[in-house]
Amino acid sequence: MATFKQIKGFVFDLDGVITDTSLYHTKAWRQLAEKLGVTWNKDLEEGLKGISRMDSLELILKTGGKENDYSHDEKVALATEKNTNYVNEIKQMTPANILPGIKDFLDDLRDKGYLISLASASKNAPTVLKQLQLTDYFPKVVDPASLSKGKPDPEIYTKGAELLNLAPEQCIGVEDAEAGIQAINAANETSVGIGSAKTLSAADVRFDDTSQMTLANIEKAMA
Ligand code: BG6
Ligand code: MG
Repeated sequence: MATFKQIKGFVFDLDGVITDTSLYHTKAWRQLAEKLGVTWNKDLEEGLKGISRMDSLELILKTGGKENDYSHDEKVALATEKNTNYVNEIKQMTPANILPGIKDFLDDLRDKGYLISLASASKNAPTVLKQLQLTDYFPKVVDPASLSKGKPDPEIYTKGAELLNLAPEQCIGVEDAEAGIQAINAANETSVGIGSAKTLSAADVRFDDTSQMTLANIEKAMA
């Protein structure tokens, strides 16, 4: 692992780290899954975190043994239906939906001169940042449409560091999803996981929730 002194930038996931949109993603996917006759379960819910819209649909169909039941165009229509419901849900978001401690953490990073970028798989990330009034904190955002592979592939975290003109060793990636931690580790960045030890055992540093994520706690954990 890199030393804390080497760290110059932070590459953030959005959903589940900055704000709890997973509630809305889950609601919209579950509604679609049940309409398609796919039984929902907790493993499926967890597995959907971090992965792209089309990969999410494929995982849902596979879980229900329905991966060969739909044409490409039908799949695109199903994913669009889910997204319409999701976009409707996130309209109600306000800065009150920022997870505990995140605003202070971002202010601290900015005050201390750390560089910040966003590595979210979500095409709705700019809308969510706007709803949360956090757009100014993230001048550098990886465009998920530019990716050839989604998380757990390292590409999105590699690009997140490149946008900051930093080497991977100089970056910390922050994630709530197993696929995301794998992506950060494969990009040779230091991984900070937010969530349970069971799901995030591969994280270099882990906190139960965002309120514990401070520079002092990260420095302590990396010592
Ligand atoms: C990730 C979420 O950040 O973005 C996933 O964790 C979601 O649940 C993915 O499927 C893609 O989001 P969107 O908004 O482009 O459908
Ligand atoms: Mg996430």
